[in-house]
Amino acid sequence: MYKALIRPILFLLSPETVHHLVIGFIKVYFKIPGIKRLIASLYTTKNFTKPVNFLSLTFKHPVGLAAGFDKNASFYNEFSSFGFSFIEIGTVTPKGQPGNPKPRSFRLVKDKAVINRMGFNNLGVDEAVNRLKNRKTDVIIGGNIGKNTATPNEKAVDDYVYVFERLYDYVDYFVVNVSCPNISDLKELQDQDKLEAILFKLKDIRDSKVEKKPILLKLSPDLNNQQLDESIEVVQKTGIDGFVATNTTVTRNKLDTPETVVRAVGNGGLSGKPIRERATEVIQYIHNKTEGKLPIIGVGGIFNAKDAQEKLDAGASLVQVYTGFIYEGPSIVKKILKGLN
Ligand SMILES: Cc1cc2nc3c(=O)[nH]c(=O)nc-3n(C[C@H](O)[C@H](O)[C@H](O)COP(=O)(O)O)c2cc1C
Repeated sequence: MYKALIRPILFLLSPETVHHLVIGFIKVYFKIPGIKRLIASLYTTKNFTKPVNFLSLTFKHPVGLAAGFDKNASFYNEFSSFGFSFIEIGTVTPKGQPGNPKPRSFRLVKDKAVINRMGFNNLGVDEAVNRLKNRKTDVIIGGNIGKNTATPNEKAVDDYVYVFERLYDYVDYFVVNVSCPNISDLKELQDQDKLEAILFKLKDIRDSKVEKKPILLKLSPDLNNQQLDESIEVVQKTGIDGFVATNTTVTRNKLDTPETVVRAVGNGGLSGKPIRERATEVIQYIHNKTEGKLPIIGVGGIFNAKDAQEKLDAGASLVQVYTGFIYEGPSIVKKILKGLN
């Protein structure tokens, strides 16, 4: 029903308008008594019997919602009914910021892809914390953290530390995002020394806590092998726990959408089908290099069980969807779980 009836109407509007419309609708709809349970009964799989132990956490199954969808921790309670075993909120920055001018998100329907240059639009960590205090679901929550656009890279570590400390009691694991292509100069934080400074600090804070929460590093699919080796080295040296692979790409290779259309869209990170293969390659590379010793969450171009299985076979323990959720609709988790080995 989603692809035949709902999607054609939604796709007449801009992705960001649809996002707000759908969220608004769900927020109101879920206030009707019994609806949350009804939706959960439609979209949750009860007969998936292989929970995943990942770091210190037990996930009911391996499929989660990727970062960027619930930037402000506004609707994880409702979205848990669509069957996700975990939801990564954020990217959250210390202060709220508007992000880039609109339009800033575009569908490439022929490629089952999206290009976005949202630019960490979010309401800031205090808003996220307020909403996380209202947690009514047992879904596992990841906190994806970043820096404010106005913060120079020399001070970036302070931003990451601030958000990490504020969120610490309210999320189950952390993801350090230095790989978003839409914040100018952010990618410089992927340089070994800068990254080390951030990760050592977060690890120290984590080690001072009673409950040790996992910290993962989110990687760009645009890193070459040498840069991937450096990222592995940093993760091993700092003692954080693993990776999320991958974020969106700045490349525009092998697209079916006409070049003029793609050029007219402009800058931004490409997600969806076109990044599936590269994201899997990155997972496989890390898995091989580390002999499977560093846990990985796989993300990028997952639309069905085959795509998810490919990421798991490459070495991921868990997977996330974002663009696939937009194209396939709310039954995506159930369909993936049905087809997994
Ligand atoms: C509109 C949009 C916004 C996103 N925002 C974020 C973000 O704030 N932080 C982040 O780490 N990743 C963000 N992502 C990247 C996704 O989490 C994911 O890594 C990427 O889209 C690849 O997965 P997919 O092909 O399933 O979409 C965003 C992606 C999209 C499409």
